[in-house]
Amino acid sequence: MTNESGGVHWHGSSVGRAERESLHGHRGCLVWLTGLSGSGKSTIANLVEERLHRLGVHSFVLDGDNVRHGLNATPTMLRERHGAEFADRFGLGFSAMDREENIRRIGAVAELFVAAGLVTITAFVSPYRRDRQAVRERLAPGDFIEVLVDAPLAVCEARDPKGLYKQARAGKITGMTGIDDPYEAPEHPELTLDSASHNAAALADQVVAYLAQRGVIQP
Ligand code: ADX
Repeated sequence: MTNESGGVHWHGSSVGRAERESLHGHRGCLVWLTGLSGSGKSTIANLVEERLHRLGVHSFVLDGDNVRHGLNATPTMLRERHGAEFADRFGLGFSAMDREENIRRIGAVAELFVAAGLVTITAFVSPYRRDRQAVRERLAPGDFIEVLVDAPLAVCEARDPKGLYKQARAGKITGMTGIDDPYEAPEHPELTLDSASHNAAALADQVVAYLAQRGVIQP
Protein backbone atom coordinates (compact mmCIF):
# COMPACT_ATOMS: atom_id res chain seq x y z
CA MET A 1 0.00 0.00 0.00
CA THR A 2 1.33 3.46 -0.79
CA ASN A 3 0.05 6.29 1.24
CA GLU A 4 1.42 9.74 1.81
CA SER A 5 0.05 12.52 3.93
CA GLY A 6 1.91 15.46 5.34
CA GLY A 7 5.30 13.80 5.04
CA VAL A 8 4.14 10.59 6.71
CA HIS A 9 4.69 7.52 4.58
CA TRP A 10 3.21 4.06 4.83
CA HIS A 11 5.87 1.44 5.55
CA GLY A 12 5.18 -1.90 3.94
CA SER A 13 6.04 -5.18 5.65
CA SER A 14 7.40 -8.35 4.10
CA VAL A 15 5.19 -10.59 6.23
CA GLY A 16 1.64 -9.79 5.13
CA ARG A 17 -1.85 -10.61 6.20
CA ALA A 18 -1.99 -13.76 4.07
CA GLU A 19 1.13 -15.16 5.75
CA ARG A 20 -0.26 -14.36 9.20
CA GLU A 21 -3.61 -15.91 8.33
CA SER A 22 -1.97 -19.07 7.08
CA LEU A 23 -0.08 -19.34 10.36
CA HIS A 24 -3.37 -18.95 12.27
CA GLY A 25 -5.26 -21.34 10.00
CA HIS A 26 -8.20 -18.96 9.59
CA ARG A 27 -9.00 -15.56 8.17
CA GLY A 28 -9.11 -12.32 10.07
CA CYS A 29 -12.26 -10.19 10.09
CA LEU A 30 -14.03 -7.55 12.10
CA VAL A 31 -17.25 -8.41 13.92
CA TRP A 32 -18.71 -5.03 14.78
CA LEU A 33 -21.36 -5.20 17.51
CA THR A 34 -23.55 -2.11 17.76
CA GLY A 35 -26.52 -1.43 20.01
CA LEU A 36 -27.82 0.51 22.98
CA SER A 37 -26.05 0.50 26.31
CA GLY A 38 -27.32 -2.56 28.17
CA SER A 39 -28.27 -4.43 24.99
CA GLY A 40 -25.71 -7.14 25.75
CA LYS A 41 -22.81 -6.31 23.41
CA SER A 42 -19.99 -6.91 25.90
CA THR A 43 -21.50 -10.13 27.24
CA ILE A 44 -22.01 -11.52 23.74
CA ALA A 45 -18.52 -10.40 22.61
CA ASN A 46 -16.98 -12.21 25.56
CA LEU A 47 -18.92 -15.40 24.87
CA VAL A 48 -18.00 -15.30 21.17
CA GLU A 49 -14.33 -15.01 22.11
CA GLU A 50 -14.67 -17.89 24.56
CA ARG A 51 -16.14 -20.10 21.82
CA LEU A 52 -13.54 -19.07 19.25
CA HIS A 53 -10.73 -19.71 21.70
CA ARG A 54 -12.07 -23.22 22.26
CA LEU A 55 -12.08 -23.74 18.49
CA GLY A 56 -8.44 -22.63 18.26
CA VAL A 57 -9.33 -19.34 16.56
CA HIS A 58 -7.15 -16.34 17.41
CA SER A 59 -9.44 -13.51 18.41
CA PHE A 60 -9.56 -10.32 20.43
CA VAL A 61 -12.32 -8.17 21.93
CA LEU A 62 -12.15 -4.39 21.88
CA ASP A 63 -14.79 -3.23 24.35
CA GLY A 64 -16.05 0.35 24.65
CA ASP A 65 -15.90 0.53 28.42
CA ASN A 66 -12.34 -0.87 28.47
CA VAL A 67 -10.98 1.17 25.57
CA ARG A 68 -12.37 4.29 27.23
CA HIS A 69 -10.03 3.55 30.15
CA GLY A 70 -6.95 3.65 27.93
CA LEU A 71 -6.56 4.67 24.31
CA ASN A 72 -9.79 6.64 24.31
CA ALA A 73 -9.82 7.78 27.92
CA THR A 74 -12.41 10.31 28.99
CA PRO A 75 -11.31 13.87 29.92
CA THR A 76 -11.94 13.11 33.61
CA MET A 77 -9.55 10.17 33.48
CA LEU A 78 -6.79 12.18 31.80
CA ARG A 79 -7.09 15.31 33.90
CA GLU A 80 -5.25 14.17 37.00
CA ARG A 81 -2.13 12.87 35.28
CA HIS A 82 -1.94 15.17 32.25
CA GLY A 83 -3.68 18.36 33.29
CA ALA A 84 -6.82 20.12 32.11
CA GLU A 85 -5.60 21.42 28.75
CA PHE A 86 -4.38 17.98 27.63
CA ALA A 87 -7.53 16.29 28.94
CA ASP A 88 -9.80 18.71 27.10
CA ARG A 89 -7.85 18.26 23.88
CA PHE A 90 -7.38 14.50 23.79
CA GLY A 91 -10.00 13.03 26.14
CA LEU A 92 -13.15 11.65 24.56
CA GLY A 93 -16.60 12.15 26.04
CA PHE A 94 -19.96 11.47 24.46
CA SER A 95 -20.61 14.46 22.18
CA ALA A 96 -21.28 13.52 18.54
CA MET A 97 -17.76 14.56 17.59
CA ASP A 98 -16.13 12.69 20.46
CA ARG A 99 -18.07 9.55 19.58
CA GLU A 100 -17.01 9.99 15.95
CA GLU A 101 -13.35 10.12 17.02
CA ASN A 102 -13.85 7.18 19.39
CA ILE A 103 -15.15 5.05 16.53
CA ARG A 104 -12.54 6.36 14.07
CA ARG A 105 -9.68 5.36 16.40
CA ILE A 106 -11.22 1.98 17.12
CA GLY A 107 -11.79 1.44 13.42
CA ALA A 108 -8.10 2.13 12.80
CA VAL A 109 -7.00 -0.19 15.62
CA ALA A 110 -9.41 -2.90 14.47
CA GLU A 111 -8.03 -2.59 10.94
CA LEU A 112 -4.57 -3.40 12.31
CA PHE A 113 -5.95 -6.36 14.26
CA VAL A 114 -7.59 -7.70 11.09
CA ALA A 115 -4.27 -7.28 9.26
CA ALA A 116 -2.76 -9.33 12.09
CA GLY A 117 -5.17 -12.08 11.04
CA LEU A 118 -7.33 -11.97 14.16
CA VAL A 119 -11.06 -12.37 14.40
CA THR A 120 -11.62 -8.99 16.00
CA ILE A 121 -14.81 -8.32 17.91
CA THR A 122 -15.79 -4.80 18.90
CA ALA A 123 -18.46 -3.80 21.39
CA PHE A 124 -19.26 -0.10 21.08
CA VAL A 125 -22.61 1.67 21.14
CA SER A 126 -21.44 3.35 17.91
CA PRO A 127 -24.77 5.13 17.52
CA TYR A 128 -24.10 6.93 14.23
CA ARG A 129 -24.55 5.16 10.90
CA ARG A 130 -22.02 7.40 9.20
CA ASP A 131 -19.26 6.53 11.68
CA ARG A 132 -19.84 2.78 11.29
CA GLN A 133 -19.97 3.16 7.52
CA ALA A 134 -16.59 4.92 7.61
CA VAL A 135 -15.08 1.90 9.38
CA ARG A 136 -16.70 -0.46 6.87
CA GLU A 137 -15.12 1.52 4.04
CA ARG A 138 -11.63 1.19 5.51
CA LEU A 139 -11.84 -2.58 5.24
CA ALA A 140 -12.02 -4.93 2.27
CA PRO A 141 -15.50 -6.14 1.26
CA GLY A 142 -16.53 -9.03 3.48
CA ASP A 143 -14.13 -8.16 6.29
CA PHE A 144 -16.61 -5.94 8.14
CA ILE A 145 -19.48 -7.84 9.70
CA GLU A 146 -21.97 -5.45 11.24
CA VAL A 147 -24.02 -7.03 13.99
CA LEU A 148 -27.00 -5.25 15.50
CA VAL A 149 -27.52 -6.28 19.11
CA ASP A 150 -31.18 -5.52 19.14
CA ALA A 151 -33.19 -4.86 22.27
CA PRO A 152 -35.85 -2.20 22.79
CA LEU A 153 -34.90 0.76 24.93
CA ALA A 154 -37.40 -0.34 27.60
CA VAL A 155 -35.57 -3.67 27.97
CA CYS A 156 -32.13 -2.04 28.17
CA GLU A 157 -33.47 0.49 30.64
CA ALA A 158 -34.96 -2.23 32.83
CA ARG A 159 -31.59 -4.01 32.87
CA ASP A 160 -29.65 -0.77 33.44
CA PRO A 161 -26.46 -2.63 34.49
CA LYS A 162 -24.52 0.56 35.24
CA GLY A 163 -27.40 2.68 36.51
CA LEU A 164 -26.85 5.14 33.66
CA TYR A 165 -30.44 5.21 32.42
CA LYS A 166 -31.62 6.01 35.91
CA GLN A 167 -29.13 8.86 36.12
CA ALA A 168 -30.15 10.11 32.69
CA ARG A 169 -33.85 10.07 33.60
CA ALA A 170 -33.01 12.00 36.75
CA GLY A 171 -31.15 14.58 34.65
CA LYS A 172 -27.83 13.76 36.32
CA ILE A 173 -26.19 12.88 33.01
CA THR A 174 -27.02 14.26 29.59
CA GLY A 175 -26.48 12.92 26.10
CA MET A 176 -27.36 9.35 27.03
CA THR A 177 -27.94 7.26 23.91
CA GLY A 178 -31.61 6.34 23.61
CA ILE A 179 -32.74 8.96 26.13
CA ASP A 180 -31.61 12.35 24.90
CA ASP A 181 -29.15 11.26 22.22
CA PRO A 182 -29.98 9.34 19.05
CA TYR A 183 -29.29 5.72 18.14
CA GLU A 184 -29.28 5.02 14.43
CA ALA A 185 -29.77 1.28 13.91
CA PRO A 186 -28.03 -0.26 10.89
CA GLU A 187 -30.28 -0.54 7.83
CA HIS A 188 -28.56 -3.61 6.41
CA PRO A 189 -26.58 -5.34 9.14
CA GLU A 190 -24.99 -8.66 8.23
CA LEU A 191 -26.59 -10.09 11.36
CA THR A 192 -29.29 -9.04 13.82
CA LEU A 193 -29.30 -10.59 17.29
CA ASP A 194 -32.56 -10.43 19.16
CA SER A 195 -31.22 -9.90 22.65
CA ALA A 196 -34.61 -9.22 24.22
CA SER A 197 -35.86 -12.76 23.75
CA HIS A 198 -32.70 -14.90 23.52
CA ASN A 199 -29.95 -15.42 26.01
CA ALA A 200 -26.40 -14.28 25.32
CA ALA A 201 -25.05 -17.82 24.91
CA ALA A 202 -27.50 -18.61 22.10
CA LEU A 203 -26.65 -15.31 20.40
CA ALA A 204 -22.92 -15.99 20.64
CA ASP A 205 -23.57 -19.36 18.97
CA GLN A 206 -25.33 -17.49 16.15
CA VAL A 207 -22.28 -15.30 15.58
CA VAL A 208 -19.92 -18.28 15.50
CA ALA A 209 -22.24 -20.13 13.10
CA TYR A 210 -22.27 -17.07 10.85
CA LEU A 211 -18.46 -16.95 10.81
CA ALA A 212 -18.36 -20.62 9.85
CA GLN A 213 -20.98 -20.12 7.15
CA ARG A 214 -18.96 -17.25 5.72
CA GLY A 215 -15.83 -19.40 5.68
CA VAL A 216 -13.93 -17.18 8.13
CA ILE A 217 -13.40 -20.16 10.41
CA GLN A 218 -13.60 -23.92 9.98
CA PRO A 219 -15.41 -25.31 13.01
S1 ADX B 1 -19.84 5.30 21.71
O1 ADX B 1 -21.15 5.95 21.58
O2 ADX B 1 -18.75 6.26 21.62
O3 ADX B 1 -19.69 4.16 20.78
P1 ADX B 1 -18.90 3.56 23.79
O4 ADX B 1 -19.41 2.24 23.37
O5 ADX B 1 -17.46 3.88 23.55
O6 ADX B 1 -19.86 4.71 23.18
O7 ADX B 1 -19.13 3.75 25.35
C1 ADX B 1 -20.40 3.53 25.82
C2 ADX B 1 -20.33 3.17 27.29
O8 ADX B 1 -20.08 4.33 28.04
C3 ADX B 1 -21.70 2.66 27.67
O9 ADX B 1 -21.67 1.25 27.76
C4 ADX B 1 -21.96 3.30 28.97
O10 ADX B 1 -21.54 2.42 29.99
C5 ADX B 1 -21.04 4.48 29.06
N1 ADX B 1 -21.68 5.81 28.87
C6 ADX B 1 -21.44 6.87 29.68
N2 ADX B 1 -22.11 7.94 29.23
C7 ADX B 1 -22.80 7.56 28.13
C8 ADX B 1 -23.67 8.24 27.22
N3 ADX B 1 -23.95 9.52 27.37
N4 ADX B 1 -24.19 7.55 26.19
C9 ADX B 1 -23.90 6.24 26.02
N5 ADX B 1 -23.08 5.54 26.84
C10 ADX B 1 -22.52 6.20 27.90
